[in-house]
Amino acid sequence: MFDREIYNKRREDLRKQLDSGIIVLPGNFESSMNYPDNTYRFRQDSNFLYFFGLDHTGYVGVMDLDEGKDYIFGDDVDMNDIIWMGNQPSVLEQAEKVGVENTAPVSQLEGFLKEALGKNRTLHLLPFYRGDNILFMSKMTGKTPEELEKMISLSLIKAVVNLRSYKGEEEIREIEYAMDIAYEMHTTVMRMVRPGILERELAGTIEGIAAAKGSGISFPVILTINGQTLHNHYHGNVLEKGRMVVTDAGAESLLHYASDITRTIPVSGRFDQRQKDIYEIVLKANTETIKAARPGITNKNLHLMASRIIANGLKEVGLMRGDIDQAVSLGANALFFPHGLGHMMGLDVHDMEGLGEDYVGYNDEVHRSKQFGMAFLRLAKKLEPGFVFTIEPGIYFIPALIEQWRREKKFAEFINYDKLDTFLDFGGIRIEDDVLVKEDDAVVLGRPIPKTVEEIETIMNA
Ligand code: GLY
Ligand code: MN
Repeated sequence: MFDREIYNKRREDLRKQLDSGIIVLPGNFESSMNYPDNTYRFRQDSNFLYFFGLDHTGYVGVMDLDEGKDYIFGDDVDMNDIIWMGNQPSVLEQAEKVGVENTAPVSQLEGFLKEALGKNRTLHLLPFYRGDNILFMSKMTGKTPEELEKMISLSLIKAVVNLRSYKGEEEIREIEYAMDIAYEMHTTVMRMVRPGILERELAGTIEGIAAAKGSGISFPVILTINGQTLHNHYHGNVLEKGRMVVTDAGAESLLHYASDITRTIPVSGRFDQRQKDIYEIVLKANTETIKAARPGITNKNLHLMASRIIANGLKEVGLMRGDIDQAVSLGANALFFPHGLGHMMGLDVHDMEGLGEDYVGYNDEVHRSKQFGMAFLRLAKKLEPGFVFTIEPGIYFIPALIEQWRREKKFAEFINYDKLDTFLDFGGIRIEDDVLVKEDDAVVLGRPIPKTVEEIETIMNA
């Protein structure tokens, strides 16, 4: 964990943004896979990690704003736990490391919260995403899950987004470490890829790297020759010459900060002309939007810029036609680029998404579009110094989507459906980097991972 001053300051900053009431931040519990004692890798709740730092199951962080007191409710280990897990520091010893002086067993939380509710005090809760936490908080408060839903605090959501959006130096260092692991993962794929190898061998190898160097992967590895499927988690295909491999994979640092990188490489080690033509378009969308990223520009405008670069490039290769600005404003390019340019990244790979995407990526100035493609943009508002976000344009040839649009003659004035027929076996290309917004510009975090055609071909053939 970080020094206790970091957590003290974070809670102090949170306190300043809310007037009164009690903030309750339940950490996560162990989660079972196939029988109670066989659990998934434990992942602490990111909000608990941010304000209370302890990577430990079964703890609840409480901030009484009126009394100015913070608490951690958690149980000390008993002899059974010691036999199975070894000695553990007491809850108080752990709490002190993050600047919290008040601890109590979890059994006292119910009385504490019910007494507060009895006095009509406000409990500030964040949205839930795990069923066991809903049941736990239901028991602790005597409220039904539906009643708990109504207690979700918009002021707390906004205050947390307001703090977690701006990454401190200590957080950037963690993200850079997660980037170092991603460098290892992606360059390992580049060295291993060859015709005949299974996707699973590659995916398993890089998941092992993430586990060996950090806290494991930051989301399930996407590694596929069917890159046209955006989140393809199937790893059973054999790599064949003529295909490309999309690897969208990142790691968590030991303190659970994420990286999220995508590279697309040819199985044969050399791009053919058609692959190179499409690759260069995506690469330009990636590099030009990174160059344009700076405080004050909206990510919606960066998304539109990427869309125009992609549509213009596709016009040059004969897949689109007509007035490209008009095509983009109507959303015709979304046939090829049906997702957003990127998302915030931090303790969560899609940072704070559990708090509500619109609170994180949109505000009173920038509202979510309803247009297919643009509607999936997770971050649209103005960029500010301290934001860490991804830039991940792509071009995909999704046969089912192409077929549907062709049947509907959708945007036929902008799309050359006849030529598209020759691309149905192409797959997809995505190139993703993680970017930090600075005072005047933005920088790609981490050690550069081969990205140009030449860099990729060089490492693959070394
Ligand atoms: N890297 C997966 C995603 O951004 O959705
Ligand atoms: Mn991403």
